[in-house]
Amino acid sequence: MKIKKAAIFFLLLILVNNTFANDGYKLWLQYLPFENKAVSDYYRDYLEHITIAGESATQKVIQKEFEIASEGFFGHHIHPVFSKTTGANLIWVLKTHDLPADTKSKLGPKLDEIKEEGYWLKSFQGKIIITAKTDIGLLYGTFAFLKAIQTREKLENLDLLENPKIQKRLLNHWDNLNRTVERGYAGFSIWNWHRLPMHIDQQYIDYARANASIGINGTSITNVNANALVLTPEYLEKSAAIADAFRPYGIKIYLTARFNAPMILDSLPTADPLDPAVQAWWKNKTEEIYSYIPDFGGFLVKADSEGQPGPHNYGRTQADGANMLADAVKPFGGIVMWRAFVYNEKTPTDRIKQAYDEFKPLDGKFRDNVIVQVKNGPLDFQPREPFHPLFGAMPKTPLMMEFQITKEYLGQETHWVNLATMWQEVLQSDTYAKGKGSTVGKVIDGSLHGYPLTGIAGVANTGTDRNWTGHPTAQADWYAFGKLAWNPDSNIDDIAEDWLKMTFTNDAEFVKTSSEIMLQSHEILVNYMTPMGLHHIMARSHHWGPGPWVTGGGREDWTATYYHKASVDGIGFDRTDKGSNALAQYHPEWKKIWGNADKIPLEHLLWFHRVSWDKKLNTGNTLWTEMALRYQKGVEGARWMQTQWLGLEGKIDEERFEHISSFLKIQVAEAEWWRDSCLLYFQQFSKMSLPAGVEKPKYDLNYYVNFKRNFVPGI
Ligand code: GCU
Repeated sequence: MKIKKAAIFFLLLILVNNTFANDGYKLWLQYLPFENKAVSDYYRDYLEHITIAGESATQKVIQKEFEIASEGFFGHHIHPVFSKTTGANLIWVLKTHDLPADTKSKLGPKLDEIKEEGYWLKSFQGKIIITAKTDIGLLYGTFAFLKAIQTREKLENLDLLENPKIQKRLLNHWDNLNRTVERGYAGFSIWNWHRLPMHIDQQYIDYARANASIGINGTSITNVNANALVLTPEYLEKSAAIADAFRPYGIKIYLTARFNAPMILDSLPTADPLDPAVQAWWKNKTEEIYSYIPDFGGFLVKADSEGQPGPHNYGRTQADGANMLADAVKPFGGIVMWRAFVYNEKTPTDRIKQAYDEFKPLDGKFRDNVIVQVKNGPLDFQPREPFHPLFGAMPKTPLMMEFQITKEYLGQETHWVNLATMWQEVLQSDTYAKGKGSTVGKVIDGSLHGYPLTGIAGVANTGTDRNWTGHPTAQADWYAFGKLAWNPDSNIDDIAEDWLKMTFTNDAEFVKTSSEIMLQSHEILVNYMTPMGLHHIMARSHHWGPGPWVTGGGREDWTATYYHKASVDGIGFDRTDKGSNALAQYHPEWKKIWGNADKIPLEHLLWFHRVSWDKKLNTGNTLWTEMALRYQKGVEGARWMQTQWLGLEGKIDEERFEHISSFLKIQVAEAEWWRDSCLLYFQQFSKMSLPAGVEKPKYDLNYYVNFKRNFVPGI
């Protein structure tokens, strides 16, 4: 009878899991019910009695997380009992100095390897010890432990000592005070400024939980195209309320500083960083900020770029600007993240060279609490770019990485593309700065140049959509960003699998098929959008859909023709010494690899070279044929993703299954749109016919050029 009851109970749980609605709000913290009684009993033995000695706000959060997890795993049937003493409890969440003396001595010197935010999960004499130096380390350890359960790891051999490799692990929100989100495709900003400071929305807390679960320890909550209002008392009070809510989760608040704020807010005649009155203004303002937010992280600044004011307006350097702010936050332990995304349409140089030209000569001229934030590539978050040449070129100035989690140039929210693949490609690129193996990852984790300050930022993809990110699978990008921020060497296959298990199910076939989709999705997207090094051929302004014909309009460096330069003679941007010589900004080793149009890996061909349409490539095809075949391959890849996914019906809840299925329909249709329109456009110049195997376009070029959609989101 008892067995029967239990069986029915588990059957129900599984049905609940697979059939009923799941809007994805819980992200990867679903804590899905166990699949059968044996699994449940196994983990239940551990989870029933837990030791948590402290009473800090963070330790309360830890306790709460165990409660949330247990409710997910067991329904309302089992509630963990917490005690301060160890007794017979099987889980101990204890700071190292709170461990019983005999345990401590048996655990030995390895305990000293745990650093400030690190933790050690250790199976020890039948118990699980989650130990750390700090409360935050305990919280991270707790999430790691719960992940082990979510992914059904055996606990007996648990022995995981982890320390983050990068110090500042931040999300950057491009959120405006009116709640629109620049390049945001998942609704409005999650920050409801109007209701702050008195109302702390549950979504803020769940945001903090999600971030803490992947080790993110900072967030810049306002757009880099900054509004000075955020520095006024009205908004500081609101930011302080968010900071208070996030503190127990180890997340610090950062704000974007508009460079001419002294002029806007207090009518100073100038914002010249060398003017003593301007310096004094920022010092006072900073003091005021710290009176609201005592652990304020510091400023993130976009200056002299895309219309933002900056030190150039006063004939000063980027270092002058950054140092002024750095001096203001220094007494409080704050930092300045100064963006290297600086370029100007009036500068005649190839746009992608400008940041290097500007920043490289300033190496060593920044204060020690400045970190220069560099996008992964020298242009702007394209589906594929070579790594930014500043990495490896500034040994005396800490550089941090800026990735874009939101998919501005990657089909926005409706395309499934696993960004971790692209990020890994960048992190593992070799700068050769100190010989072979000087990867970008080692630059940003500080190990290559011995940077005292290290950081990484991801432009957030969150919004008010019920599932936070628009596409259910875009949650994976947020998750993977945190994991790679913690350790840039993390294995992205494991990241994908863990995310799938925690978010959907541990079903082996589901995990295998979905992770194959994820790991191939980036190459597929590159093929149907920008194969062989094509770049910036998206539609004007909103960057959604193809726009290789985009030309004119005042800013050449915002057109497509500036980048692809297609004509009857050929296509591509010559960046060798016969062209813009952007190649020279990289270590000479790269000249050997990228400098020769016959040898360069084809994925970067048109980024660095201008080649004729009939050029024979090492694949045996002409350039035109190869390009057409790759576009076709991309479309076939998208269709393959769709077929694979549809084969998984019934393995997860219907709501998310259908959501992803319908987005895949969009993705396939848009992949065809990209292929057809780009090939028709480039065919005007190649004057060659489509090779066998490439489908005939549905419409003529005129149709695609004149196709317009109103109110594309995210601007
Ligand atoms: C891109 C993007 C802008 C953004 C800018 C930046 O150009 O289109 O919306 O402001 O990057 O990173 O500052």
